[in-house]
Amino acid sequence: EEYRSDSEIDNKLKEIMSSVLGKKGAAVTDLYQYEGFWCPLARLEGTLRAQKHFKPQPNQVILSSFPKSGTTWLKALIFAIMTQSHVSEPTNPLLTRLSHECVPFIEFDFRSSSPKLNLDVPLVATHISYTSLPKSIINSGCKIVYLCRDPKDVLVSTWHFIRKVLVNEEFSAVRDIPLEDAFEFFCQGLSFCGPYWDHLLGYWRASSESPERILFLKYEDLKNETGYWVKKIAQFIGYPFSLEEEDKGVVQKIIDLCSFENMSSLEVSKNGMIWLEKNGVNTMEIKNNTFFRKGKVGDWKNHLTHEMAMQLDQILEQKLSGSGLTF
Ligand code: A3P
Repeated sequence: EEYRSDSEIDNKLKEIMSSVLGKKGAAVTDLYQYEGFWCPLARLEGTLRAQKHFKPQPNQVILSSFPKSGTTWLKALIFAIMTQSHVSEPTNPLLTRLSHECVPFIEFDFRSSSPKLNLDVPLVATHISYTSLPKSIINSGCKIVYLCRDPKDVLVSTWHFIRKVLVNEEFSAVRDIPLEDAFEFFCQGLSFCGPYWDHLLGYWRASSESPERILFLKYEDLKNETGYWVKKIAQFIGYPFSLEEEDKGVVQKIIDLCSFENMSSLEVSKNGMIWLEKNGVNTMEIKNNTFFRKGKVGDWKNHLTHEMAMQLDQILEQKLSGSGLTF
């Protein structure tokens, strides 16, 4: 849907808010359904505004992901790839700024009164579903790199994140939700940007149709074969490494710079924070260290029972059946 004016966007928001209200506890705040996906209000507002106003730069690269799939990491990797000649410099922004500062989310940026997406590096991120992406992105044919992750790890990672991020007492009911309840919600599709499987399938199908436009990645693959995928991503987005750069070990430098161990031990990650802003006003602070927990594949084994894991695997198998996508 296209909205012609900002007041139409405001009306649409009111309409969505009054029609379908998600269940409390499923995510950071109440979730609203928009174009088939559950969305927190702040993101929804930014999504509608981005649908109207976002204009990709020439050679724009879009990093899209399901939340808690390793976005913080992939932002850093792609930013480093796109600025590869500066990787070893002490002024590299990734050494002093969280990757979320270097690479903004479209839907957060368009919530503020003055979007800042005027960047030297044409890279932006989003959690918006493929269906709801601004048409300007689809029409421009710009490159999209999509990242997802084993839903069991996504669920566990989200659960921990919410517990750390929601410091205000007003959120205590959501924050203190038992993992079992979060699991139930997730299985019903009620999660931040969920249903999980629909988010994946949207990008998966688009990537199957246009593999030159959308690269579909999994956190597990990126973890297991980081070097291979860094080169693949670089080639895909049009920033391939020269033989000379490869000889100089640039790929390994990027991997080391963005590794969990290195990124999480930087001063900015340990003690910094970012603010979510609305209309020029800071509305919520997030400590940067909440974006770094374990960074491992399969930590769900320490949290979910065998039965829970089987149940979620079965749901996924059924939802993804026939698509060619498996976990
Ligand atoms: P865990 O909670 O399982 O540790 P997102 O960035 O999309 O919010 O995802 C967060 C997840 O990515 C967290 O997973 C976090 O620890 C992990 N992560 C953050 N930085 C990482 C890095 N440099 N390498 C690998 N994983 C990383």
